[in-house]
Amino acid sequence: MVESVSIEKIADSTGTPVYIYSTEAFLTPLKEFQRGLASVDHLICFAVKANSNINVLKLLGDAGAGMDLVSGGELHRVGLAKIPADRVVFSGVGKSPGEMAAAMKMQRRGIFCFNVESTAEIETLNAVAESLNQCAPVALRFNPDVNPKTHPYISTGLKKNKFGMDRKEILEIVRNLKNYRFIEIKGLSIHIGSQLLSLDPLDDAFQKLGQLIDELNTKLPRPLTHVDLGGGLGITYSKGEKSPPIRKYCELVLKHFGPNAQQRLPFKILIEPGRILSGNSGILVTEVLYRKERPTKDFLIVDAAMNDLLRPSLYGSFHDIVPVKKLNGRPKKTDIAGPVCETGDCFAHDRAMTTQLKSGDLLAILSAGAYGFTMSSNYNSRPRPPEVLVSNGKFTVIRERENYDDLTRGEAG
Ligand code: LLP
Repeated sequence: MVESVSIEKIADSTGTPVYIYSTEAFLTPLKEFQRGLASVDHLICFAVKANSNINVLKLLGDAGAGMDLVSGGELHRVGLAKIPADRVVFSGVGKSPGEMAAAMKMQRRGIFCFNVESTAEIETLNAVAESLNQCAPVALRFNPDVNPKTHPYISTGLKKNKFGMDRKEILEIVRNLKNYRFIEIKGLSIHIGSQLLSLDPLDDAFQKLGQLIDELNTKLPRPLTHVDLGGGLGITYSKGEKSPPIRKYCELVLKHFGPNAQQRLPFKILIEPGRILSGNSGILVTEVLYRKERPTKDFLIVDAAMNDLLRPSLYGSFHDIVPVKKLNGRPKKTDIAGPVCETGDCFAHDRAMTTQLKSGDLLAILSAGAYGFTMSSNYNSRPRPPEVLVSNGKFTVIRERENYDDLTRGEAG
C-alpha cells in the first residue's frame, strides 16, 4: 500500500516497472524543516536534481518550498511548475552564459541568487548581467575543505573536489569587486556532499563558513544578507543505518546562524535538501520475469534495470527490496538483476529472499524517490518507466511510460 492505495492496483493499471510516489511522504519532512527553522527567516530550496517531475516541484512549491537548480533544463521545469523566481537559486560549476541569461530573465524579475563557483564564472556572469543591464545577485560558494565521510562520488567539500572556492579566491574576488559592476554579493553558499549520516562534518563546515562571513562583512560595502547551507542530509536506506533527525540538523543550523549568532543578523538562511525530501517518498515497482536456480544462490531477473535506477550499479548503493505480497517460504541467497547486458545491472547481491518468489510477482525497491527517475536513461533502448503520484487515496500518472517513438525522436532517417 502507498497511502492506502494498493500497489498491485497501480501496477495493474500502468504495468511495470513503475515509480510510485507518496504526497504525504514529500510533505512530512518539508514541514519538519519549516518547523525547525520557524524562528528565522528561511527558504527551503528543494534540490531539483533529486526528483524533477513538475508535479512534484509544484507540490513542494505549493507547500512553500523554493528550488535549487543546476541547469537550464531544471530552470524550464521550475518555470512550468510556476515556482516564484524569488524562491529560486542556481548552483553548479558549469553554468553557460545562455543559462545565466535565462535565469536572469525568469518571470521578468530574475532568480533570487546565483551560487557562483569560480572567478572565471563571476566574470562571465558579470558580462551576461551587463548585456542585460541588470545586476546579478550572487552567493560565493565556499569549499571549506571538510571531509563529509560519504561515497567519494558524492563528496563535494574537499579541496581536491571541483566545487566552490577556497577563502583566498573568495577574498580576491571581494578585493576586485570594482571589476564586477553588475554583480551584487549577497551571501555565501556551501554544499559539502550528499547522504551525510553524521552532522559533525556539517558542524565543522558551518563553523568555517561563519568565520568567513564575519571576515567578509568587514570588507564588503554592504554586509551579507543570506547564507545558503546546501543539502546533504542522508536517509536510512538499510536497517543498520541511522540518519540524523531533521530537528537536530535545524538545531545545528540555528546554533551557527540563528538568533543567538547575533552579529550576523538580519540574515536569511537557505538550505537545499534533495534526498531527505524525496528519497523515502518513492519506490520502484518491478515484476519478476524469471528465477534462475543455482545450487548456492538463485538469480531473480526482474523487468526493471540499471537504466531505470542507476544507484546500485553506479555507487554500489543498498536499496531494500521487498515482495509486494507477503510470502512465506525459506530464504535463499539471491541476486536481483535486470535484463541489461552488463554484469553491473544488479539491484542486490546475495540478498536473503524467499524461494516462493516466482515469475509474475511484484517487488518494491524502496527509497527510490531521490536520484531514481532523474538518473534514468534509455540504455539498451529501454523506454523509461512511468511516474505515479498517490494523493488522498487516489493515484495519478504524472509521467507516462515512454514508447518506442520516444526512443527514436529526433534521429534522422
Ligand atoms: N545542493 C547542491 C549544490 C548539490 O550539488 C546537491 C546534490 C544538493 C544540494 C542536494 O543534496 P542532497 O540533499 O540530495 O544530498 N546521485 C547521487 C547524489 C548526487 C548529489 C549531487 N548534489 C546519489 O544518488 O546518491
